[in-house]
Amino acid sequence: MGKTTDTGMMAHALHEVGYQVRAWDADESEHLTQWSEAAGGFPFPVERNATATFSTDVTTLSNGVDVVDVGHTENHPHLADSVLKIADLAIVHMEPSMADWQRVTQPRTSTPIRDMVERSAYVRADRKAPPVWILLNRVRAGVRSVGEMRTLLTDAGWNVFTVVIPAREELKQATGFDVVRAASGPFGELVTEMENKGLIKRG
Ligand SMILES: Nc1ncnc2c1ncn2[C@@H]1O[C@H](COP(=O)(O)OP(=O)(O)O)[C@@H](O)[C@H]1O
Ligand SMILES: [Mg+2]
Repeated sequence: MGKTTDTGMMAHALHEVGYQVRAWDADESEHLTQWSEAAGGFPFPVERNATATFSTDVTTLSNGVDVVDVGHTENHPHLADSVLKIADLAIVHMEPSMADWQRVTQPRTSTPIRDMVERSAYVRADRKAPPVWILLNRVRAGVRSVGEMRTLLTDAGWNVFTVVIPAREELKQATGFDVVRAASGPFGELVTEMENKGLIKRG
């Protein structure tokens, strides 16, 4: 779905514009950790915790942003459930395709992400579910599917970021290399949109 690519790039963009960032690999695939190693180490800490006790193991930064790459909710619901206990914002990554629409909104054999977010309210300190935003990725230039998917999603009550992540060869290969100037592209625009919407704040 593009989770690791988006999450790693967003973490770099946040770091570049001055946030204190710590990245968490909460996926059994260890893909984010592998990326960090391939890059010779990200310029911020990358820690690993892919367990059902994430929420009690992790003390979040008081003065920065913890960015978590969560394993796919279809296969690892316990990871998402635990992270959702303490998350201030949940981002769902998808391509504007019917395949991803079905995976997000009507999976046949797993709990829909919206149900997982809603049920997190019962176990959160404030008894309120965190905000959820959809980030459309792998978007091809000049295709109708983006607008159509945005309408489909917003009609179904989803929040969708205005910024979309384009399909690009360098993003396709990103997880094998170090990241330079993430903030100068769409991920920088995403950080600005999140700030403008009050979804993240400095300090
Ligand atoms: N913006 C993008 N443009 C082109 N390819 C992308 C983009 N983002 C992700 N990909 C590709 O999509 C696939 C899944 O990405 P990945 O980040 O590993 O997803 P996940 O963590 O959800 O499994 C990979 O082959 C990756 O290279
Ligand atoms: Mg991944």
